[in-house]
Amino acid sequence: MPVPMLAANWKMNCLADESAELARSVVEGCAGLKGRDVLLAAPFTSLHVVARELAGSSVSLAAQDMFWEQSGAWTGEVSAEMIVDAGCSHVVIGHSERREHFGETDYTVARKVAAAHAAGLIPLLCVGETLAQREAGQTAEVVERQLRGGLFEFEQAGFASLLLAYEPVWAIGTGHTASSEQAEEVHAGLRTVLADMSDTDTAAGIRILYGGSVKPDNVDELMACPNVNGALVGGASLKAEDFLRIVHHREQSGVI
Ligand code: 13P
Repeated sequence: MPVPMLAANWKMNCLADESAELARSVVEGCAGLKGRDVLLAAPFTSLHVVARELAGSSVSLAAQDMFWEQSGAWTGEVSAEMIVDAGCSHVVIGHSERREHFGETDYTVARKVAAAHAAGLIPLLCVGETLAQREAGQTAEVVERQLRGGLFEFEQAGFASLLLAYEPVWAIGTGHTASSEQAEEVHAGLRTVLADMSDTDTAAGIRILYGGSVKPDNVDELMACPNVNGALVGGASLKAEDFLRIVHHREQSGVI
């Protein structure tokens, strides 16, 4: 079983001072943490200050997006090299909010994933179906297309460290989390596709995170699913206490 990854996606929240304070609280709450990894995806403007707070800790830093070109006349864009320079080891790519509001497609996702890997960043690729697609029985087909499309240009060498997040669009920010059965079914399907794209052992080691209204009171059940290897947390990651409860899920019971 891969080490669980608990990731925060702060989205477009937190000014620099607020980011530093939240990061500091997370670092304090993760002191001595064993058997699980923690990642914070901060807004671009907070990356430098958060990197300073995370220095010397086991908590990793991600950007929430990037552009695939290395440099040049791309006003408003941020390259993988800039993200690395700001202290990131990871980058979120293909979040449904970017697909929905900013025209992200499987093609642009694939280019970003490949460029991230080339720059030494670990991509956290997000996939997920809309409510209409789920109701039409298209969930497996949609997430497989997003996965294969997003990894179209990805090198085999990157598979071992790749992070994947299943985030059903209808569960994001709505308070309607997927049931553990729904999450497990999709995660198991994604792992089968990953095995087809690489091999069974590699696929078994890839962490597939669940995202969509993960809260302190539902994380235990979700994390009990064999194919759920972590969580990508939006709203609940903005309060250190809630996020730390998610990070420390199931510790008392000694299950993980
Ligand atoms: P919420 O946890 O607010 O539903 O957001 C999930 C998400 O989009 C994380 O990337």
